[in-house]
Order: sequence, then structure tokens, then C-alpha cells
Amino acid sequence: MENSWIANTVAIVTGGASGIGQAIAVQAAKKGAIAVIADIDEDNGLKTAVEIEAAGGKAHYIHTDVTSPESILNLLAEAKKLGAIKFLANSAGLQTYGTVESTSEDDWDRTMNVNLKSMFLVSKQLVPAIRHNGGGGIVHISSIQGMRCQKNVLAYATAKGAVISMTRSMGLDHAAEGIYVNCICPGSIDTPLLRYGAGQHGPVEEVLEKWGNHHPIGRIGTAEEIAKTVLFLWGPNSNFIIGQAIVADGGLGSIIL
Ligand SMILES: NC(=O)c1ccc[n+]([C@@H]2O[C@H](COP(=O)([O-])OP(=O)(O)OC[C@H]3O[C@@H](n4cnc5c(N)ncnc54)[C@H](O)[C@@H]3O)[C@@H](O)[C@H]2O)c1
Repeated sequence: MENSWIANTVAIVTGGASGIGQAIAVQAAKKGAIAVIADIDEDNGLKTAVEIEAAGGKAHYIHTDVTSPESILNLLAEAKKLGAIKFLANSAGLQTYGTVESTSEDDWDRTMNVNLKSMFLVSKQLVPAIRHNGGGGIVHISSIQGMRCQKNVLAYATAKGAVISMTRSMGLDHAAEGIYVNCICPGSIDTPLLRYGAGQHGPVEEVLEKWGNHHPIGRIGTAEEIAKTVLFLWGPNSNFIIGQAIVADGGLGSIIL
């Protein structure tokens, strides 16, 4: 493991049991961090921690429901025992579909709770700890759908747009404390969540290839590409970037047709 600015600090990753969050935990551990996988999915959370440790890294799974303040309080208490908490990535999320007419109130609330309010709740409890440890970095995972839209994703796109505004606000509030807050807006990234979405449109591999061709780069992205962007935003080479939405989308959001 590399000896770096993140070495032996605690890096908490919500949604760390799968997809983008899992890749962030892996990259953080590769740089020498103590990666904390905060997720409701115990099987994949434990498996991820074991795989990171098997590769020589440090990782812990802490069962966490990011919609529950009590559960986040437990995350904070357990993570503090591991060392100095300095980094947070909020990646827990889910995908819902619907228009303003077809989205049920339950789906709206669930989407807002998991994709938006969770980032408020987790940050609320972790910012004091990061400040106490001399500052650090927070990255929220938004989406290109927070800026540009497709049809039938009303609640998801609304939540992701709000994450961008929350990031700007948090960035301003905490910059002088040395807590650097930004978010990333990925295009299509090959994860279980995207594969679930692709399955709604036809055979998964065919749909993923089609979606990849919509990206100017000619393919969908990898979770590792987003994880490496998180590490850049957490790290010392990006400290003048404050409250920004960094688009990592293979060019998808820039095309007109
Ligand atoms: N995959 C993409 O194409 C894509 C694109 C843009 C943005 N995103 C965003 O990236 C983030 C990660 O998505 P992914 O594709 O890796 O999805 P994923 O489904 O692979 O992983 C999401 C993780 O969040 C966890 N989670 C869900 N609800 C939770 C809760 N209440 N408490 C704790 N953990 C919970 C799940 O158990 C899962 O491990 C999401 O916020 C998603 O909206 C994904």
C-alpha cells in the first residue's frame, strides 16, 4: 500500500458495498486509508472488506442505514474507534422511474430520503468529526441527470439536482475550515444499479452497448474511473476546487442531439 496523504486516516464510504462506492473503498484502501464501508447490504459489505484486506488494505464494514440518524450515530461511534475520520464519500443511492403523474408519493419520499436527505444526515454528523481532525474532504455522488435529463426520472433527477445545490452550499460553509466539499456527476457507469436500469429497456448487454454509443467517448464508464476522481477531489492537488459539480460523463452531457 502506498504511503500518502490519506494513509492511516479513516475514509467513510456510504454505499461502499457495491458499484461506485465499492470502487471508492478499494481505491482509498490502495492509498493506505482505513476504508469504512457503510451500507445496508451486509453480505456484500463484509465481502468487500474481506477482499480489500486480502489485497493488503485496511477495511471495515459497519452496518449503516443512511436514512436513519441513529444508524449514522452508530457509524460515527464505531468509525471513531478506528482512527481519525477525515474523508467521506456519499455514494449510497437508488434508481426510481416515473413522471410527475406516475411517481407515487412513496417512491418520491424513498428517492429523496436515500439519494438526498441521507447526504444531509451523514454530513451533519461527520462534519464535526472531520473538523476535529483538522479538516479533510467530502464528495457526494450526484449524476449528470442532476444537470441534464432523460424522460421518466422525475424524483431521481430532482434529488440529484438538489445534491449539486447542497454541495455548493456546503463547499462555501466549510472551505475555511479545510473541509473541501465537491460532488461528481457521472454519466452511465457499469454497476449493478445501471444494469438494473438497463434491464428495464431490454437485454442488459445490448442496452449497455447502445448507451455506451450515446457517450461521445464510445462506451459507458467504470466505477474505478469515478473512484479515482473522488480520490483526486479528496486529495491535496484539488484544494482550490470548492463546492463544484465535477462532470465525469464521457461527454454525454455536452451533446445537443
Ligand atoms: N451507475 C451509474 O450509472 C450512476 C450514474 C450517476 C450517478 N450514480 C450514483 O452513484 C451512486 C452509486 O450508484 P451505483 O451505481 O454504484 O449503485 P449500486 O446499486 O451498485 O450501489 C448503491 C449502494 O447503495 C446502498 N444503499 C442503498 N440504500 C442504502 C441505505 N438506505 N443505507 C445504506 N446504503 C444504501 C446499496 O446497498 C448499494 O450497496 C448513487 O448515488 C447513484 O445515483 C450512478
